[in-house]
Amino acid sequence: MHVRVLSMSINKDYQQLRTTGESPVVPWSGNALQYRDLREELAPEIERVLSSGKYVLNEDVAAFEEEFAAYCGVQHAVAVRSGSDAIAVLLRALGMRSEDEVVLPANSCSSEPNAILLGGGKPIPVDILASTYNLDPDQIEGAIGPRTRLIHAVHAYGQPCDMESINRIAKHHGLPVLEDIALAPGARINGERVGRFGDFAIASFGQGKILNSAGNGGGILLTNDGSVAERARSFANYGGGVNPDPEHVRTTYLPPGRQRVWLQPGLNSSLDAIQAAILRVKLRHLDRFVKARAERARSYDSQLAGLDVITPVISDGVTSAYRGYIIRVKDRDRVLAHLQGSGVEAATMYLPPVHLQPAMTRFGYSESDFPVTEQVARELIVLPIYPELTEDQINYVTQTLEEALSGDII
Ligand SMILES: Cc1ncc(COP(=O)(O)O)c(C=O)c1O
Repeated sequence: MHVRVLSMSINKDYQQLRTTGESPVVPWSGNALQYRDLREELAPEIERVLSSGKYVLNEDVAAFEEEFAAYCGVQHAVAVRSGSDAIAVLLRALGMRSEDEVVLPANSCSSEPNAILLGGGKPIPVDILASTYNLDPDQIEGAIGPRTRLIHAVHAYGQPCDMESINRIAKHHGLPVLEDIALAPGARINGERVGRFGDFAIASFGQGKILNSAGNGGGILLTNDGSVAERARSFANYGGGVNPDPEHVRTTYLPPGRQRVWLQPGLNSSLDAIQAAILRVKLRHLDRFVKARAERARSYDSQLAGLDVITPVISDGVTSAYRGYIIRVKDRDRVLAHLQGSGVEAATMYLPPVHLQPAMTRFGYSESDFPVTEQVARELIVLPIYPELTEDQINYVTQTLEEALSGDII
């Protein structure tokens, strides 16, 4: 590959890595570096849980539920194994039936419509705004029908969506709103952390998330509605709960004081104690993580200002948690290949869009149904962003991008 002489100097170490190709110059995530920084806090917690011999439903899980609910300003939390499970148990708790519809952005991860189907609902995608990539409030009305039961508002790539407009429409139709903060914990609307703006919220703590556990594990449902929380908790724990007819069951089988029985089909989805312990430590750093991401986003903003790329547009009154630094370019595949070939672990996201996924075929959507989502899907690149990303690395990404855009590569 021929690389033209760059206008800015690239840090020598990165230049060397780039030529030897030993490891990515700019990895996709900072997880390993984050562990190095937090080892002194995390390692004793992991040791404590392992030594306790109590790995499920222990005090760490209850404490994490309480702490995350307080962080988001909500009363009840049910910690589960994934964000998908949080959606599914909510839908089950709401009594969703197969023709009941959930409106969600077409620009979504397939895990969301998948969880809606598993939870007993039917996903109804709608188009997004070209500016923020979030649900377009003007499109929601047209998607609401007699079977609509819920609006699933996702904060795309970490930027809160227009909850005021979405809530207004929902209220007009008597519908509840699920605020999906999987990509945005710690983001804010008018200074307040997300998670409190809908009737319910879910978060995910998988390894790629801003607040992440050590694995694929972790999700949470938030709500101020205690009865929904209780029903969701039952679905998340094998469908168990307090015996509704104590006299009958006690006299036949249960010893006095034992009240839990199997009420209905449910999942085995309680959050693991070890993940809860890890998340409790990281939650204490979440505001700092979000601030560091925003600082790196500002560096990208200023460095990319002169290039032919569309950089993030952040709405007034919100702060983004920057799960990714999103750019759009015309010749996406060529630009992405050059970034990746140069050791920048940039990526695409949500391809194909939800309505064109094979699992959605039976609902009859086709290309051109959601033009903004489709256009964005063709142009979007996610640049790595995390608190451990250095200024040198941002310089390197910028220069590699500049090369690709100049077309001076073969
Ligand atoms: C916005 C959003 N909601 C929900 C989920 C589901 O979370 P999980 O992967 O923990 O099941 C994801 C997954 O990445 C997501 O991006």
